[in-house]
Amino acid sequence: MPIDCLQLVKMNSDIEAAKEHFGKILKEQLERVETMKASAGWTDYAKLDKLIIGIVGGDGIGPFICKHAESILRELLKDEIASGKVEIRTIDGLTIENRAKQLKAIPDDVLTELKKCHVILKGPTTTPKKGDGWPNIESANVAMRRELDLFANVRPVRIPEQSIDWTFYRENTEGAYVLGSRGVDVNEDISIDFCVATAQGTERIIRLAFEHARKTGVNKVTVVTKANVIKKTDGRFLSTAERVAKDYPEVKWDDWFIDIMTAKLIDPYRRAEFKVMVLPNLYGDIITDEAAQIQGGVGTAGSANIGSRYAMFEAIHGSAPRMVDEGRAQYADPSSIIKAAAMLLNHVGFVDKAKRLEMALDLCAQFEKKVKITGRSDGATGEEYGKYVLRTVERKDLEQAWNAAKGA
Ligand code: IPM
Ligand code: MG
Repeated sequence: MPIDCLQLVKMNSDIEAAKEHFGKILKEQLERVETMKASAGWTDYAKLDKLIIGIVGGDGIGPFICKHAESILRELLKDEIASGKVEIRTIDGLTIENRAKQLKAIPDDVLTELKKCHVILKGPTTTPKKGDGWPNIESANVAMRRELDLFANVRPVRIPEQSIDWTFYRENTEGAYVLGSRGVDVNEDISIDFCVATAQGTERIIRLAFEHARKTGVNKVTVVTKANVIKKTDGRFLSTAERVAKDYPEVKWDDWFIDIMTAKLIDPYRRAEFKVMVLPNLYGDIITDEAAQIQGGVGTAGSANIGSRYAMFEAIHGSAPRMVDEGRAQYADPSSIIKAAAMLLNHVGFVDKAKRLEMALDLCAQFEKKVKITGRSDGATGEEYGKYVLRTVERKDLEQAWNAAKGA
C-alpha cells in the first residue's frame, strides 16, 4: 500500500525524534571515552592510611545473607579494625523500596556515600522489569558499575575435583548494557536498543584478562564473541584481542563463539581446558550463570566488579524476593556473598586471609558438607552456615584438610 502524505509526515517526525535521541547518547558516549582516556590509574591500597569497606545490604534476601559475610569480614579483620587501618561502614538506602520512591537506580545520597568508600560489599538488589509492579527504573548494579566505572566483572568458578578452574572477565560498562535503559521505541511498531564497544573499553578488559593469565602463570586466554554475526561491536572486541595478544607472547589464546562456548562448558571432555575467558557484557552475564550452576548453583559463585578507582564485590545471583515472601529468607545460602568477601580481601591485599576463606568455602560446600543448606527449613539457616564457614577458616589444620580433600 502506498504511503500517504500524513503517514510520511509522521514517519519523518519519528525518525527525527530517534535521530535526536541517538545524537544525545552518542555525545555522552564520546564524553565517556574522554573520561576513560583521562583515567588516573589504579588505587594503591597498601598506601592508604585507612581502608574503607562499605557494606550495602541491598534488598530481598540481600540483607539476610550480607550480614553473615560482614561478620566473617569483621572477624578476619578484627586487628586491622582495632588499629584503625580498616573501617567497615554500613550504607543504607539501596533497597528497591527506596529506589522506587526516589525513582532512581541509585539515590543521590547513597551514591555520595558509596564514593567515600574504597571497596564495597554489596548484597543483591532487585532489578525491576516492565509490568512487575515496580517503576521500571534502571538496575542498581548496572548504574553502580557505570557510576564507579567498574569495568571488569571477574567471576571465578572452581571445581577442584574436576580440575575446573575458570576465571571469567566480563566487560562490565559497555556492550548491550551501557544503553540498556536508553533504547528507543521509534513508533508503535519498532523498538531499537544499542550496543556499544569502544577502543578504550575493549582494550582495558582484554588487557586485564591477559595480565591475569600472565601473573597466575595460567598463560591461556579464550576470547568469546559472536563476531561472525555482530560484526561491529563484537568484531572490535575480537580484533582488539588480536592486537593486545601480541604484547603477551607467552600467553596462548583462542577465540570461540558464544553459542558453542555455552555448549562446551557442559562438555566434560573439553571444559577443563578453558582457563581465563574474556567476553562482552551480555555474553558474560549469561555464561557466568551457567558456569556457576555447574559449580553447584548461582548461590555458590562470587563476583568482583573492578575499576581503577573503586571496586565492588557481590553475589552473582538476584535478590530472590520469593524467598522473602515465603518466609524463607533466613535459609538463603550466603556462600556467594562470602565468596565475594574473599575476593574483596584478596583485591585489597589481604591475600592470605582471602586464601583461607576460599579454602574454607571449598571444604564446607564441596568436600566436608557438615552443614547443609537447602534454601528451606529442612536445611541449615544462613547464620548456621556462616558460622560453619568461620569455624572452618579458624581451623589450624585448614590447609592440610583442604589439600587432602583436593587430592582425595
Ligand atoms: C549479574 C546480574 C545483573 C546483570 C542484573 C541484576 C542486572 O544478573 O550481575 O549478573 O545482568 O549484570
Ligand atoms: Mg547475571
